[in-house]
Amino acid sequence: MAASSGSLHEPADQLPPELVDRHRAIVSIMEELEAVDWYDQRVAAASDPELAAILAHNRDEEKEHAAMTLEWLRRHDPALDAQLRAYLFSSGPILEVEERAAAGGGDNDGGAGGGGAGGSGDGSLGIGRLTAHPDVDDAPEGGKR
Ligand SMILES: [Fe+2]
Repeated sequence: MAASSGSLHEPADQLPPELVDRHRAIVSIMEELEAVDWYDQRVAAASDPELAAILAHNRDEEKEHAAMTLEWLRRHDPALDAQLRAYLFSSGPILEVEERAAAGGGDNDGGAGGGGAGGSGDGSLGIGRLTAHPDVDDAPEGGKR
């Protein structure tokens, strides 16, 4: 995985170790999702059904790798954590999630929420879903909770 250390855009000795670790995670996520894309195409193109099934299995394992690494990155990047809490597992038009967050809602229909200390940096995200949202409920369209 030489790319992860070779793709820094600033001299490594000028970057803090935690930033370089986040870089490693980001590059790994990129590689995992690229592999998913490649496997998807191979599955679609394979003429042998058993080979296609194996490739599909391998593709879906790459999704697990991507998800695990994304979760690590989320735990180490408060701004990303806030965005993921706002958008992931939401329902309805995605653009309206931003509008609700800008209006102070931040409702995301999320499930379990983060385990433990959130540290989102924006207390309105995540906390708001525990209470009623008149602003969302009265929205002319969307507003689905
Ligand atoms: Fe992988």
